[in-house]
Amino acid sequence: MSSHDDLLKEKMQTLSKLRNQKVIVTERMEQAYLKVPREEFVLEKHKDRAYIDTPLPILSNQTISAIHMVMIYVSPSCADPQIGQKVLEVGAGSGYNAAMFAEMVAPEGVDNPGHVYAIEIIPELVEFAKSNIERTGYSDRVTIIASDGGSGYLAEQPFDIISVAAASKKVPPPLLEQLTINGKLIIPCGRMFYQELLIIEKQPDGSFSERNLGGVAFVPLTGKYG
Ligand SMILES: C[S@@+](CC[C@H](N)C(=O)[O-])C[C@H]1O[C@@H](n2cnc3c(N)ncnc32)[C@H](O)[C@@H]1O
Repeated sequence: MSSHDDLLKEKMQTLSKLRNQKVIVTERMEQAYLKVPREEFVLEKHKDRAYIDTPLPILSNQTISAIHMVMIYVSPSCADPQIGQKVLEVGAGSGYNAAMFAEMVAPEGVDNPGHVYAIEIIPELVEFAKSNIERTGYSDRVTIIASDGGSGYLAEQPFDIISVAAASKKVPPPLLEQLTINGKLIIPCGRMFYQELLIIEKQPDGSFSERNLGGVAFVPLTGKYG
């Protein structure tokens, strides 16, 4: 079997596992998972491991998140992304999570596509994410921005979803300010090596509700709010 066939086989095996584990729970999630080629978002030397459900090293000592974690973010019980929505992803890394959000808010052929703005603070990773997003054909739906994502992205706020892929000790206030009414902020909050994944939703009266999806372990958010 060619390595392409091996990858496809492993991709389908992981899909089946994630369905059984009730991580992938909708047809739209399944389609998004099948569409985004994770092998194009990992380093060449890790390509044959692209569909193992684990974080993998990328550049600058950072990681692409495990597949189940990316799928949890786009699930109905977490960000619940809908077609047409505007998403801010903080911590673009490889660009994989941004592409997954793009498949959820702007799948090909819809009349009202949404858009994903993905911010990355490490210049080498800005270039990595940009080249991965361009090569895989997502440039019309994903914009990679070089900046400190803890401050959000004033030029395009407010956002229906702000998804943070790095752990902060406290919720950065600009991210709350840059949510639409009913907008959701997904953020791992806590200490080094252990955080809780919070979903904070802006209510019509401007107050915030909070849910806790449980323990996770992300690399730290750096910059002004790290
Ligand atoms: C777990 S990785 C994200 C993985 C990424 N979502 C993917 O799909 O590959 C966390 C990323 O957050 C970035 N990061 C940390 N602090 C940041 C900040 N203040 N602003 C923007 N990016 C930040 C790191 O450089 C790293 O690339």
